[in-house]
Parts: sequence; structure tokens; C-alpha cells
Amino acid sequence: MNNESLILSPFSVAGLTLPNRIVMPPLVIWKAGEDGRVTPSHRDWYEQAIGPGLMIVEATAVSPEGRLAASQLGIWSDEHVDGLAELARVIHGSGAMAGIQIHHAGSKATLKHTCGKTPLVPSLTGASPGGAPEMTSDDIARILAAFVTGTERAIGAGFDYIELHGAHGYLMSQFLSPNTNRRQDRWGGSLDNRMRFTLEAYRMAREAARGRAAIGVRLGLADSKPGGIGPEDGLAVARELAALGCPILHISHAGRQPEGIVPDDSSFSATIHLAGLVKSSIPMTVIGVGGIFTPAQAEDALTAGHADLVAVGRGILADPGWAEKVVAGRPDDIELCVDCQPRCFHFREPEKCPARQRLAVR
Ligand SMILES: Cc1cc2nc3c(=O)[nH]c(=O)nc-3n(C[C@H](O)[C@H](O)[C@H](O)COP(=O)(O)O)c2cc1C
Repeated sequence: MNNESLILSPFSVAGLTLPNRIVMPPLVIWKAGEDGRVTPSHRDWYEQAIGPGLMIVEATAVSPEGRLAASQLGIWSDEHVDGLAELARVIHGSGAMAGIQIHHAGSKATLKHTCGKTPLVPSLTGASPGGAPEMTSDDIARILAAFVTGTERAIGAGFDYIELHGAHGYLMSQFLSPNTNRRQDRWGGSLDNRMRFTLEAYRMAREAARGRAAIGVRLGLADSKPGGIGPEDGLAVARELAALGCPILHISHAGRQPEGIVPDDSSFSATIHLAGLVKSSIPMTVIGVGGIFTPAQAEDALTAGHADLVAVGRGILADPGWAEKVVAGRPDDIELCVDCQPRCFHFREPEKCPARQRLAVR
């Protein structure tokens, strides 16, 4: 990497000025205290991971019944703001722009994780957690309002970028997919109706932000489930979001890695190719993510035009100094993620991450 590297070049969008094009994507660390509060472990983690131009704080629940785990961060109460403000300060102190992802897990929450609050689902399907009722119109209005108050609190805490979680099969994805949305009202049925929740959440959050922060969406462009959403549907949502003025899309999958996307001669992941699809067809800022482990891969993704910004998730979990080492011109010092299968240890047992173990004895 040298000073002419694309990943080290600054980037501006929607009032954000990034010193480089490396993004730390949202990565839950399951360290929240009682009632979803920030703990010293969060501060430590975000302090260690300095270097990216944009750091996006992990999925933070807008409403208690939307939590994936009782150890997930929350933003449903004014009492969360001070702790989150501390994280925004830590991130700003490193020279990065501070982002936060706001989230509702929908049917992926369970009674156990929501501490007794009943999860909500767009429709009753096989995937509904036991006893979860189908959302009424009032529930939908309440959760959209929770995304708005979450946005206002995030702005109050000092975040520059607020990302609505519309990927990975959580509530927004569930509204979008015909597999999980069988509603017969204005929130279900046609693609226009199924994307209404995402568009409304974006429109309302942006209105509440009044230009004080950039609002973007992490959009699950496609999944691999039979009857799920395909890239054409995802692109249609992306176009509507762009038409509403959404400046940034962080492109991912809608629950499972989609198949049939990666050309035989490509070494990039399906999600990087999905990002490329958006980038080549819609004039907006695209964050690409998925399977970028080395700085050279990140540079190649930018050079190939798949994205404007590149997010490095497991790479940064494996070595929190990933971006700092690139910026300092020491890419060879990075302890590389070894892409553990079937699942990254960081999700539940970070102490078993092979890269972290090697880093600890260096
Ligand atoms: C431990 C862990 C936690 C994650 N937490 C979140 C999250 O809070 N929100 C989200 O949208 N994605 C989350 N992801 C997905 C990552 O942001 C990223 O999209 C994914 O790991 C693919 O990028 P990578 O190949 O660079 O790791 C998580 C992934 C891992 C491994």
C-alpha cells in the first residue's frame, strides 16, 4: 500500500469526511450490560479497533423485543445515550467518522433473549418464534417510530452516520421477503408493498435527522432461499431508496449467501458482487463487504469498481490493528483471519479465534 492506494484515499459523502476508505462494519460483541447498556468492554473494543475511516457500532436494538440476545446493545431508552456517546467519542478520538447500526431482529428474537418481551413478526410462518403475534398496523407504526427515536438518540449521542439494518433476515429483510411476509395489507403482497417498511423507516429516520447525520441502509440484496428475494428485487429497493435521497447503501445478503452470483473467474464473494451490481447501476455510495481479508483484496475490490468503501469484518475481529497497520504502511504485520468454518468463533467464543491466539503471543 502506498499513498496512491485507493483504500488510503479520503472520501466524502453526505456530510461525512472519511480519512480513508476502510470501514469497520457492525460486529456484535455481546457485551452489553443490563438493559442493553454500553460496558467498559465496548469502550476497550472500539478503542483497539482504530484506523478505519468509518467505524459502525454493532447492531443496537431499537426496541427490547427486537433483541437477538440479552447482551445486545440497546437504544430504546434515553438512558442508553450516555454510554453510546462515550463510544462515539472514542471513535472520533481516533480520527474516524462514527456510525451506529440500529436494528430489530423480528422473528429472529426469542422469548429467552428478549427477557420476557414477546417478539414480533411480519407474518405467521414456520419461522415465527413460539407465541409471536403477527404485527398489527399499530405494531408497525410503533416499530417505525422506534427507528425514529433510535435515530434521534444516536444523533444526540454524537454519531455521524446511522445505518438501518435491512439485511441478514432480520425485521426489514423479513418484510421484504415473500417467505416471511404473507401479509394481505399494504405491508405485504407486491414488492412495492413488501419494501414499504424499509422505505418508510428510511424516510422517517431521514426526516428526523434533519441533515444532522447521514442515514444509510445495510441492505440484504438477495438470499439463497427458494422463494426468497433475488438481486432484481434488491436492486428495485436500492433504486427506491436512492430516489428518496438515501446516500449510502451497505450491501449484504438477506439471510443466506446467495448462489449463482460469483463468476467462475472471480475471487470475490457474492456480497462484493452484489455491491458491484448496485454500484454499476445506481449513482450512490456503496459499501462492499464479505471475504475481504487482506489490504490487497480491499484495494482490488475498489479498483475493480465493486464499491466506493470496503468493510472488513472478521479481518478486524482477528486483528483489531488491521486498519491502523495499513495506514501506517505495515500491512505485512496484520495477523490475518483464517476464515474459520462453519462459523467465525467471534460470534460466540472469541477466545478460540486462531488469529487472536497468535496475536496474543507475538
Ligand atoms: C462476530 C460477528 C458479528 C457480527 N455482527 C453484525 C452486526 O451487528 N450487524 C450486521 O449487520 N452484521 C454483523 N455481522 C456481519 C459482518 O458485519 C459482515 O457483514 C460479515 O462478517 C462479512 O464480512 P467479513 O467477511 O469481512 O467478515 C457480524 C459478523 C460476525 C462474524
